[in-house]
Amino acid sequence: MEQQKIEAAVEFARGNRQRFVDELKALIRIPSVSTLPEHTGDVRRAAEFIASELRRIGMENVRLIETATGGHPLVYGDWLHAEGNAPTVLCYGHYDVQPAEPLEEWITPPFEPAERDGNLYARGAVDDKGQMWMHVKALESLFAANEGRLPLNIRVLIEGEEEVGGEGIAWFVQNHHDQLRSDLALISDTEMFAPDLPTLCVGLRGMIYTEIEVRGARIDLHSGMYGGAAPNPFVALAQIIAKLKDENGRVQIPGFYDKVAAPSEDELKAWKALPFDEEHYRQTEVGSPELTGEPGYSVLERTWARPTLDVHGMPGGFIGAGAKTVIPAKATAKISMRLVPGQVPSEIFEQYKSFVESIVPRGVEVTVRLIHSAEPIVVSTDNRFVKASVEAMHQVFGTDTVFVRGGGSIPIVGDFIRELGLPTLMMGFGLPDDNLHAPNEKFHLANFHRGIESIIRFFAAAGA
Ligand code: BES
Ligand code: MN
Ligand code: MN
Repeated sequence: MEQQKIEAAVEFARGNRQRFVDELKALIRIPSVSTLPEHTGDVRRAAEFIASELRRIGMENVRLIETATGGHPLVYGDWLHAEGNAPTVLCYGHYDVQPAEPLEEWITPPFEPAERDGNLYARGAVDDKGQMWMHVKALESLFAANEGRLPLNIRVLIEGEEEVGGEGIAWFVQNHHDQLRSDLALISDTEMFAPDLPTLCVGLRGMIYTEIEVRGARIDLHSGMYGGAAPNPFVALAQIIAKLKDENGRVQIPGFYDKVAAPSEDELKAWKALPFDEEHYRQTEVGSPELTGEPGYSVLERTWARPTLDVHGMPGGFIGAGAKTVIPAKATAKISMRLVPGQVPSEIFEQYKSFVESIVPRGVEVTVRLIHSAEPIVVSTDNRFVKASVEAMHQVFGTDTVFVRGGGSIPIVGDFIRELGLPTLMMGFGLPDDNLHAPNEKFHLANFHRGIESIIRFFAAAGA
């Protein structure tokens, strides 16, 4: 694609900034919360919204794909008419979002996008509707500036179940290699290390998300009449949880660390050179009196390269205002482990399950369930796509790209690598304080626009 046309595509994007944001707002107003059954219709509406926009900009074979696992649909589209032997890029994103609760913490309602101080506030603004929209708008700009053609072949695959484990897309990828044949997966669902610092994410933690259910008495009991003789499932659960992790943050499951692969010396050295202020991070991002975790590892190592275990909630018993004297018949805990390269999710789950079963207190029965899992990944930086992306972002940000890992998980990336053999480029434009999964999620609009320009330039370079 000639330089003049690339600049015309960037100009098109600049000239349409407000419209791009307005469209994103319309998408965000659809509350596509994948985990809540009452939003199933909204999730589908969001998929249809994206499909109709893909058709409008010139993508072909656009359709919703229903998966064999019966969950939310995938959105697919492609355009495969590039000249010469231009590569094919698979653009991945997700249109589902996390629940918005606690609602009272939001300054403006989560599904009424609001612009304040150069940010767009809403659930899904950055994770991942806004970032996925950058791909769509970069494609639109290239079509518009280049007589309805693209400089490379594109497949778009957008899922609606990322936040709940991505079962449907995993099934589709495993069973439709031929329909997804590509040379690269491009993902914008990660963060920049700092404002103005273009960033490629080269590794993600994996995870297993589990639930422990503890049952004691056959039914809830009066705690005065039976307390002292009847087992208490919450106390039993607390005793189990207390044995999972020690006070230094070390997970106590036998074998848990056996296969952990340490990052290379080069990688550790590069992380030390990143502009990271631990005290600032503690105060502004975490906001706790002290940071915790494994001694001997930096915060970046603890969150990117060390596995960990967290408790997300303990449903059951009496949680209303005031007091109720009851011994609950059952108690549950939602517990996940973040995993790092080397660890195999299914093996870790078995180790965890056997360990929990070996420490069950007297008087209760325990069930350990796996809800979903994701593989840990690291990607190579030694390919022409990484080079093209670094150059594209240099043109937009005027500075060199840093390579980081992310502590979060994107379940399908492991399948892209293993099943499809795709190199993966994670070019994300979120910021550390964008409040992903939290109240007042936002997307810095300057990054939305710089992201679109970076992706336009990346597509042009990758197609050359
Ligand atoms: N976009 C995030 C993952 C992420 C966030 C990666 C920040 C790197 C940096 C994604 O939407 C997400 O939240 N994934 C879930 C996956 C899980 C539910 C299987 C996660 O990490 O909790
Ligand atoms: Mn995401
Ligand atoms: Mn997320």
